[in-house]
Parts: sequence; C-alpha cells; structure tokens
Amino acid sequence: MDSLLSSILSEFFSIEDNCLVIGEKKFLDIINGNPDRPAFIYSTDIIRKKVALLRRALPDSMRINFAIKSNPMAEVVNFIRQHVDGLDVASGAELLLALNSGMPAEHISFAGPGKTDAELQLAIQKQVRINVESENELDRIISIGQAHNIEPQIALRINPDFELRNSAITMSGGPTQFGIDSEIASQVIDKANRSAVKLLGLHIYTGSQNLNVDAIIETQQKTFALVEQLARASNTQFAQVNIGGGFGIPYYPEDQALNMDVIGANLAQLINAYHKQYPATQFMTELGRYIVGESGVYISRVVDKKISRGKTFIITNGGLNHNLRSAADNFRIGKKNNYPVTIANKIGLSTEPASVVGPLCTPLDVLAYESEIPVAEVGDYFVVFQSGAYGYSSSPLDFLSHPKPQQFLV
Ligand SMILES: Cc1ncc(COP(=O)(O)O)c(C=O)c1O
Repeated sequence: MDSLLSSILSEFFSIEDNCLVIGEKKFLDIINGNPDRPAFIYSTDIIRKKVALLRRALPDSMRINFAIKSNPMAEVVNFIRQHVDGLDVASGAELLLALNSGMPAEHISFAGPGKTDAELQLAIQKQVRINVESENELDRIISIGQAHNIEPQIALRINPDFELRNSAITMSGGPTQFGIDSEIASQVIDKANRSAVKLLGLHIYTGSQNLNVDAIIETQQKTFALVEQLARASNTQFAQVNIGGGFGIPYYPEDQALNMDVIGANLAQLINAYHKQYPATQFMTELGRYIVGESGVYISRVVDKKISRGKTFIITNGGLNHNLRSAADNFRIGKKNNYPVTIANKIGLSTEPASVVGPLCTPLDVLAYESEIPVAEVGDYFVVFQSGAYGYSSSPLDFLSHPKPQQFLV
C-alpha cells in the first residue's frame, strides 16, 4: 500500500473485516440499496475536520468561504453552509443552491466570466455580491441595477501581473478572461466609486491545487501589496477583500499535505500590517477542494478481469464518465499518475499489479495505471479516494449513456 493511501486511511477512514468504513458505516451498508450502481460517498466528519483545521490555523478574522463549484450536491452545500462564513457561486443555478441552503445573501459572492443578464439580474435582486470580471460586465451591472432601481453590491476581480506559481491551474498573471487587469484597476475602481453600485472591495484569485507553501506565501504577500497599492491610489478603504485560496490536497504518493500553520502565521502578519492603515477591511479566502476533496470516495464494481499480453486489467462499471479528474491525470498513456485507490472490500489482503479501467470505448478511460492493488475478482468494489471535489460535477456523465452515479452524504 503506498504511503499516501495508508495515511489517508488512518487519518480519515477505518477498516472493518477488510472493508472500507466511512463515518461509522461500512461502504456496502451505504450503497446496499443499489450496489451495482457506481457511487460517490462524502463524509461529514471529514468535511468538519478540514474546516476545523482551517479555523485553527488561519487568523480568527479571516472569513472562510466555500466554492460550490467543487461539489454542488445540495446536501453537501447545506451541510458545509453551517460550518463556513460564506459561499462562492459561479452560475445562476449555483446561486439558487446557495440561497436555498439558507446562507444570507450578503455572504454569497458570484464570480466567473460570462455572466448573463438574467444571472446578473438575479444576483442584483437578491443583493448578492457580484465579483465583476470585466469593465463591460460592470457597465451591464450598472444599467440592470438602474433599470430595477436597486444598488448592485459588487467587488472587482483583479487580474494581477503575478500568478500562483506551482499551481495545477494558474488563473492570473497574463492575458486572461478572469478579472480586470491590474494596470487599469485604479481607473475602474474610480469609475465604480462614481457609479450607481456599492463597491465592497476586491477579489484576487490566482490559482488552484497548490501544495507549495512558499509559493502560496509569496502570492499572498504580493496580493496584500497590490490591495494596499490600489487602496492608496483610489483613496478607498475596501470593506471586503477576497484573497482567493488555491490550497491543494495530496493526490499522488510524492505529494505532501500543506502546512496550514505556516500559511496562517503569514496571513496573520499580513492582516495585522494592513489593518494598521485600513482597520475596517475584512479579508476572506475561498476554497473548494481543500474543504471537500478528501471527504469523497468514488466506488465502482468490478465487472470483468482479463490478462492482455501479460498485463492484468480490472474493468469496472464506472470510469472517466463519472470521475474525470482521477482518470485525466493518466491521459498521457503509459504514465503512472494514479489517485490513491484500492479494492474497498479487500483492504490489506494480498496484492497484484493491475490497471483498473472503466467501461468506455477509449484508452483514456484508466482509473489506475499498473497499480499494486488487492487481487480483485468480478463483483468486488474498486474505490478511488480524494474524489470529493470536481468528481461528479466536472465529469462527462452522459458519455456512453451509462447510469449516473449515486451520491451519498454520511
Ligand atoms: C474563482 C474561483 N474560486 C474558487 C475556486 C475553487 O478552487 P479550489 O477548489 O481549488 O479551492 C476556483 C477554482 O477554479 C475559482 O476559479
């Protein structure tokens, strides 16, 4: 068993009769209504642990928002809503999900390029903060607000001239559809201050899935410096500043979990220094994967096993159509980039090297490439860990029209 898998099992799960236990329940008791249909199972205990870890490490004044895009299952959102300070949404449908969870509108933010007039109108009417992605979007917000005689609540998303280096996904620094370039930010802030909108502050989101503490600290320092520079240049004390997040989780054996205490200590210093000049500014971070990624497992059932030219293949009834991201890292065929995986009903039993593939007619459908896993037979259950974020919601569920996975929150 690789070291990441054993540390995940001991930190977040337990094992009974060689079976995976999630919360207090054996996985089979959770899916026994329909054991042949692949399933995502999310654990409230793990989500609670992750939020508690953030609360312990980050400064008390730092608000923690959950980015719904990482896991929009309504039960998950309703649960997380009770443990965080705000929700970040990226579409009209996510906005309704956030409002239905009971989160007050003033603690919901709506980011993302390409918001339609209908989405903007909904956000304005509900008095949700809109993170404005372009000057053109600002103009549309002003006219929709005027047409409905409501003052829109906005923050300007700034595209700084730096990125969060070492991120799996960087979202700033160069030309991008995200945010207003920092070079013109002061003049757009002035325009917003003069217009029929309530400018609450700034949003600076630089990257996602980052496990490099030095890079995160460096970006946070640059982010605070930029915020201060824009506050000074526009003579504005921002009420709210969202400094993004990007905190990653380990997916591969060589990945190390982030040391959140170091990040928290740096943030405390930055906030204290900033508050000397602008004491009323409230800082917030927005996180998806860090809160929910480790809480979820994806389970599919072995339907076939074969040897091809000396290599063992385990074929399951679910694949990249359900859990794209765990397969996508194996897209470079012949390269091993496996999430932590095992046979959920044979943990700790003798192993063999095997590739685990889904039922799709593409060689990309590989959930584990030449992994050392317990010897599996037809009818066994294959589990992929670290599947709580961007699993169900970012997968091509209709590809080959297999049944969609079930989802459980336990
Ligand atoms: C604006 C914004 N906020 C939050 C997130 C959530 O990122 P993560 O789930 O990696 O924390 C993303 C991810 O792309 C994003 O684009």
